[in-house]
Amino acid sequence: MYRTKTCGELRLANVGEIVTLSGWVQRTRKMGGMTFVDLRDRYGITQLVFDESNNAELCESANRMGREWVIQVKGKVSERQSKNANLPTGDIEIIVQELNVLNEAQTPPFTIEEQSDGGDDLRMKYRYLDLRRPNVRRNLELRHKFAFEVRRYLDEQGFMEIETPVLVNSTPEGARDFVVPSRMNPGQFYALPQSPQTLKQLLMVAGMDRYFQIVKCFRDEDLRADRQPEFTQIDCEMSFVEQEDILQVFEGMSRHLFKSLLGIDIPTLPRMTWADAMKYYGSDKPDTRFDMKFVELMDVLKGTGEFSVFNEAEYIGGICCEGQAVYTRKQLDQLTDFVRRPQIGAKGLVYARVGEDGVVKSSVDKFYSPEVLERLKQAMNAKPGDLILIISGPDTLKARKQLCELRLEMGSRMGLRPKDKFSCLWVIDFPMYEWSDEEQRLMAMHHPFTSPKPEDIPLLDTDPASVRANAYDMVINGVEVGGGSIRIHDAKLQEKIFEILGFTPEQAQQKFGFLMNAFKYGAPPHGGLAYGLDRFVSLFAGLDSIRDCIAFPKNNSGRDVMLDAPGVIDQSQLDELHLNVSLPAE
Ligand code: AMO
Repeated sequence: MYRTKTCGELRLANVGEIVTLSGWVQRTRKMGGMTFVDLRDRYGITQLVFDESNNAELCESANRMGREWVIQVKGKVSERQSKNANLPTGDIEIIVQELNVLNEAQTPPFTIEEQSDGGDDLRMKYRYLDLRRPNVRRNLELRHKFAFEVRRYLDEQGFMEIETPVLVNSTPEGARDFVVPSRMNPGQFYALPQSPQTLKQLLMVAGMDRYFQIVKCFRDEDLRADRQPEFTQIDCEMSFVEQEDILQVFEGMSRHLFKSLLGIDIPTLPRMTWADAMKYYGSDKPDTRFDMKFVELMDVLKGTGEFSVFNEAEYIGGICCEGQAVYTRKQLDQLTDFVRRPQIGAKGLVYARVGEDGVVKSSVDKFYSPEVLERLKQAMNAKPGDLILIISGPDTLKARKQLCELRLEMGSRMGLRPKDKFSCLWVIDFPMYEWSDEEQRLMAMHHPFTSPKPEDIPLLDTDPASVRANAYDMVINGVEVGGGSIRIHDAKLQEKIFEILGFTPEQAQQKFGFLMNAFKYGAPPHGGLAYGLDRFVSLFAGLDSIRDCIAFPKNNSGRDVMLDAPGVIDQSQLDELHLNVSLPAE
């Protein structure tokens, strides 16, 4: 046997036992005639002691060992003289009697400690070493438990896990596809699924009633901290349901996850319409850990003074930052620089401070009478000591997004966004369509299979842009963790939606014929949603990037630096696939 115990389990109660442990050498320290070794495995760290006066040869072997050597030891558990309260095994040590080196190791390129000295790129190149770090390992453990609890909950609710294919066909709408050439069908390509959306709908037509799958999805889109080209969804679909049924089941799942994994009881999820989310937070995924809602100030500030920027604005909105009137000129300049960054794109920032005497002093004082500034204070419900920040612009949507960024920045600066506090909600009633400047047409905001709200169906003919969808997102701490919709199950309505999206009947038939045909054979009313597992787990683990809970993630250029993928393939492989590669000239 390689071991009788792990490096994480021995306690005072085991003192006197003879045990065998196996693991990696975390560190060796020589102190006089004694050598101390920290032995590490997945379960913890145990201190080993080699005593020169007992066995000089054994001690000599221990002194030769380097970091990350793989060893096996046999010895006696003994009580430690100086205990280490930071270590679960810190009360004991092993007086080693036998040492067996299982494998020597090169010195690793960075320290394998919670706080490593290795930079991101280096750690990703040697990800298998990075994963030895206990904090990284803990993220994977949490991910495992998370997926396990998801399965437990959904199984109890009668859901069946069904695998769907990874080699599918390319569908328009959504992100860009990753494609795979087919050797047996020259010149033809599979696409990797962006989600199993249409397949799970077919499973409903097939009578599976309640489906789920923890499944890899692939999207060739620009990467950010919360996006990976391949990521994992908890994908779900249910038959004979309305929106309310789905919200109930999945609110239940979230409650189960929070309770079983974090020991937190979450309150009933509030529901916010998309229109309100945009109006009060400038985002369809508001961070509701803190309030600081937008107040629209057009009535108060447009045309009531000489400030041309406001007089020409289509939108003026403010946030009230409690107790921040003390912000210095320098800090306010920093905030102005922040909103002017190209990613945010605001022209500037107007501020107003409420003094302890209740009098408002603002950066636009010279343009407004004290009465207008007093009205501003009242509209903002600002108290003495508060700071009001105002953004305006010629485009309401853009100005709201800028104010959203400012609100989040202030929330962070004011310490209102702690990672161990959770605020969950449903955002509902999304619009069916959004206008694409690039494509000069309406695009499905969720996807083309989403059903309109029944009361808005007549508007499809007259004013499609104002039609609301039976679609919903679950948002936690400003992160869209999941989203879904009630689907169209009527072939005629589905045809109409494709038409509004600009598909000719032939194009619709060619791309989605399989689904529309299926709907002719008795499709049940159905709906569902998908969670981003990586995002959900990262929130639970308090991570800044979803990469940290993925065993082998890609970097921001979509590369796996450890595998050095993607890479070129042999000419013979290209020939077999009838592919010609022509790269643009440098
Ligand atoms: P949607 O496109 O909203 O819906 O995706 C569902 C959830 O998946 C996560 N997600 C991502 N996570 C990491 N990296 C990415 N690139 C990425 N893209 C999406 C998000 C998101 O909420 N088929 C529909 C669901 C449905 O209607 O049932 C779908 O895929 O957390």
